[in-house]
Amino acid sequence: MTEKKTFYITTPIYYPSAKLHIGHAYCTTIADSIARFHRLAGEDVFFLTGSDEHGQKIQEKAEAEGVTPIEYTDKIVAGFQNLWQRLNISNDDFIRTTQKRHEKVVQEIFRRIYAKGDIYKGSYKGLYCTPCESYWTEHQLDENGCCPDCHRPVQEVAEEAYFFKMSNYQDRILAYIEENPEFIQPASRRNEMINFIKQGLEDLCISRTSFDWGIPVPIDKKHVIYVWFDALTNYLTPIGFLDDPEKFNKYWPANLHLVGKEIVRFHTIIWPCILMALDLPLPKKVYGHGWLIVDGDKMSKSKGNVVDPIALIDEFGADAIRYFLLREINLGQDGNFSRDALIQRINSDLANDLGNLLHRTLNMIGKFQDGIVLAPQGESEIDASLKADAAETVQFFDENMQKMELSLTIKKVWAFISRANKYIDETAPWALAKEPEKKQELANVMYNLVESLRHISVLIAPFMPITAERIWQQLNLPQAFAEVQLDDIRAWGGTPADLKVGTPEQLFPRIEVEKEEQPAKQPKANKQKKEKKADKKDDSGEVTFDEFSKLQLRVAKVLAAEKIPETDKLLKLKVDLGSEQRELVSGIANHYEPSELIGKNVVMVANLKPAKIRGVVSHGMVLAASQGDDLKVVSVDMPVGAVVK
Ligand code: MSP
Repeated sequence: MTEKKTFYITTPIYYPSAKLHIGHAYCTTIADSIARFHRLAGEDVFFLTGSDEHGQKIQEKAEAEGVTPIEYTDKIVAGFQNLWQRLNISNDDFIRTTQKRHEKVVQEIFRRIYAKGDIYKGSYKGLYCTPCESYWTEHQLDENGCCPDCHRPVQEVAEEAYFFKMSNYQDRILAYIEENPEFIQPASRRNEMINFIKQGLEDLCISRTSFDWGIPVPIDKKHVIYVWFDALTNYLTPIGFLDDPEKFNKYWPANLHLVGKEIVRFHTIIWPCILMALDLPLPKKVYGHGWLIVDGDKMSKSKGNVVDPIALIDEFGADAIRYFLLREINLGQDGNFSRDALIQRINSDLANDLGNLLHRTLNMIGKFQDGIVLAPQGESEIDASLKADAAETVQFFDENMQKMELSLTIKKVWAFISRANKYIDETAPWALAKEPEKKQELANVMYNLVESLRHISVLIAPFMPITAERIWQQLNLPQAFAEVQLDDIRAWGGTPADLKVGTPEQLFPRIEVEKEEQPAKQPKANKQKKEKKADKKDDSGEVTFDEFSKLQLRVAKVLAAEKIPETDKLLKLKVDLGSEQRELVSGIANHYEPSELIGKNVVMVANLKPAKIRGVVSHGMVLAASQGDDLKVVSVDMPVGAVVK
């Protein structure tokens, strides 16, 4: 038997400095669907996530709560594990940097590099950002003298410390990055790293003495090891670095470290230098994904816009959240999370497209064929085109999931779902059922629909594992779902004849939203009270910066424009905001032909409350400049989704 191809994938290990938010869930969900895809493709996958529990930041948090650091992290890490379970994350191990198995690895690595002469003792005087656990030099700070990553104040640190001779590896790491374009992705991050290294790598301070929550330096117990030196080595611990060489050789080098864009530097400069010092091969790929922002803004406690993934899962279910995150956001770029867009996707893609396809199919088989899938015979042109589309979709899925094109792949699978829905309309089974001589034709249509759904169940499994299995079970397919592989849908016809399908159960209930003019729904008393309060507060006509910054102005591309019948001024526009598409109404019909607007990048108020205008739910407002009779929409040469501030 040939050995299975292996695939080792990791997420960052998360700081238990607070509860995890939807941005962390995004990162782990991406990794989970990639891991699930590789398992489906028949590979031997090892998927690792965990918690990064040492360091000054955690010690300070624990002190603030009056508990020991380990009491503090135990509680928060239990929350992480609960979240991953609720999201159906299929990790093969969960590493905690406080575990003995990890401490042993870190100390051994320190010893080996010290013995090699690449670690030396010196004294550190410089700047430190505790929230990022990062050292900085004066010239690296931002324009306000703060941390260039998180823009918070840095502290002066002066301590005796051990240093890692990163400078020894500068040329090798630069050459490696330049010679291996696959190593850092996307390409923009690769260029940033090349520029960073070209400015010169300084030796890295890898121990601290001013607090003690860390792994002791094995040769000098008053020092604890710098948290990033400790954290990065987590990737070696669970695959047997110290105790299982066979396992280690099987999985190392990792195929993919998936990380957020702000920690690419640690993974593509510091980590490779550590590995080179250990004479170990470098990971094959480090992918720096973009951030999830909320309604156009970065999530933060102080802004009060932190989205709790558990609350969302309770409300909408894990698969709907997973679908939204993976479908809406392009991996390399920042992407927006909005509740409205989530609900829209659930209703249109999940309840409507997918839910209806399953429901209609099972209903018709129940009604026309007593729930039995009959053997197909022959094929029409429409049947042949459906099968060709299925084969093309499977091919696309395979190629694009290998390339981590998750959003593109999902869109392609949904195009096939729409195709299958259209097949029902084209073949009109209800009409075939009325003509006894068309019995075989009807049987063929029913067979093809079940077979399409069998394909769809497998194709959505990496993204929505629970829904995939629910579809499989409603189809009542005999093969155990856990054993299904991508190879099972490489050919048409895997559904056995005479299968008795189940009765349809709803996959996703539609979410009802308030569609009518929302401002008019505000209780009157409350509204008057608010207006009075506003009157009292300020009648200068000036707005504060805080008031202004509530407005979210974003660049959007006009995709379609049409006049609203029986109005003079109103156009209905469809716009693309990058993270979502919207419909809105604009009173500019006297100034523009609809076709003149198509393709323009306009500025819009993205967080205007939706209102129903002439039967159209208008979600946002396009800005325009006017003087006298002249009016022009505000249009800028910036990409879709850009924030105007
Ligand atoms: N502990 C370090 C990682 C060590 S890996 C050896 C760390 N932890 S973290 O908890 O601050 O962040 C973990 C990951 O979550 C990072 O990759 C970060 O980019 C990601 N995210 C945090 N907020 C995010 C969003 N809003 N959106 C997407 N990812 C986000 O860094």
